[in-house]
Amino acid sequence: MTSVPPDLHAWLSDHDDAIRGELFDFLRIPSVSARSEHDADTRRAAEWTADSLRAAGLSATVHATAGHPVVVGEWRGAPAGAPTVLVYGHYDVQPAEPLDLWTSPPFEPTIRDGRVYARGSVDDKGQLFLHIKALEAHLKARGRLPVNVIVLAEGEEEVGSEHLAGFIEAHAGELACDAVVISDSAMFAPGLPSILSSLRGLAYFQIDVQGPAQDLHSGSYGGAVVNPAMALAKILATFHDADGRIAIPGFYDGVAEWPAHVREQMKSLPFDAEHFRAETGSVSLGGEKGYSILEQLWTRPTCEVNGLLSGYTGEGAKTVLPAKAMAKVSCRLVPNQDPAVVESLMKAHVARVAPPGVAVTVTHLHGGRPWRAELTGPLFDAARRALAAAFGREPVITGEGGSIPVVGDFERILGAPVLLVGFGLPGENAHAPDEWLSRENFTTGMRATATLWDELASLSK
Ligand code: BES
Ligand code: MN
Ligand code: MN
Repeated sequence: MTSVPPDLHAWLSDHDDAIRGELFDFLRIPSVSARSEHDADTRRAAEWTADSLRAAGLSATVHATAGHPVVVGEWRGAPAGAPTVLVYGHYDVQPAEPLDLWTSPPFEPTIRDGRVYARGSVDDKGQLFLHIKALEAHLKARGRLPVNVIVLAEGEEEVGSEHLAGFIEAHAGELACDAVVISDSAMFAPGLPSILSSLRGLAYFQIDVQGPAQDLHSGSYGGAVVNPAMALAKILATFHDADGRIAIPGFYDGVAEWPAHVREQMKSLPFDAEHFRAETGSVSLGGEKGYSILEQLWTRPTCEVNGLLSGYTGEGAKTVLPAKAMAKVSCRLVPNQDPAVVESLMKAHVARVAPPGVAVTVTHLHGGRPWRAELTGPLFDAARRALAAAFGREPVITGEGGSIPVVGDFERILGAPVLLVGFGLPGENAHAPDEWLSRENFTTGMRATATLWDELASLSK
């Protein structure tokens, strides 16, 4: 097993306090991409990222887009014939609400029990920042990197990366690279470095049901006027059959069989179903019959209600027949489902099952393609060596139920393989109150990615 190069290890250790201070500054910026009242903060986070890249020794540009800015950092001083590697991450974060459920305020990073608590600590500012510092370790300790590096940081990942594919297409020449490296996911367990082999895709919808022109007295009108909340409930109830399979006609048409060797690999992971259940706080688990939990999470598509809104939800009872009802519904997709096809299937299905007496509209909000990697070749061998060197343990191959929409775009537009190595942990509360990043993973992740640059020098062009 190789080890972390001593000069890089020393530089990172010597600067440990300063690095943490900077991370905390980054985490203090409330760059909530979904909220326009935070647009100035989001812009500030982009500028902060660019400044941090410059301080590390890269050049950096903040590119305006129709949405939030894209930051591009570059260092191109590697010897002739050296490969070019692109690091992607996102500096935007999810909204922090509900605020009263946080133990310490979301934008005041706080250390408790070896964890950094803050919105964006693990998703994804901490993981983006550890890459910047790993690059800086090379440039400060040695004055150079063994590979050319591009850092691409976006501010719209948490709202669907709407403008990123267009940006990559428009800048495909400058962004040309031999590999893409992303840290925006989690390890399977503490101490167990993990390489991701798949991500699910996404198709996200809003369903609006309009009943009467205004709210009505439920005694005077109820029974004769169609209730839009009941109509919406009926529509939602048609999405699954009794076995937990999605009952939207054609939904499974694109679903490819999962390779047997990947399913075997999944079985070898240290997974405890009861621990998983307890962690969620659910009474019992459910889902599609005939699949293990990890298969359900990583290899099977879903159709979920993310939000519901209708009628009176305040204190006590109000007898009212609501005028409208709304649901946010998202489908997680697996290879080779196409979000655009799922959109048309969903719209046709809802139109077919919508009861008479209400007007129903389905709006597609955003989507992203699923992704699966083969994990063979020099990029993945380099990653295995670097992770083993830093964590003292061979990495495992895992899957993921979440989505990173741009991953498929990188492969499609730049033709480069994508390596996903994340340093989060189960239970890290991403998108939820009390999001945290393990301090130890942050430090070891920095050492692993610093080692990765040495390992990637041998990547053939
Ligand atoms: N970092 C996550 C993706 C992820 C989720 C990786 C869970 C590993 C575990 C990313 O920031 C994210 O939240 N993606 C969204 C995509 C959506 C907003 C288009 C997701 O999966 O919901
Ligand atoms: Mn993320
Ligand atoms: Mn996220």
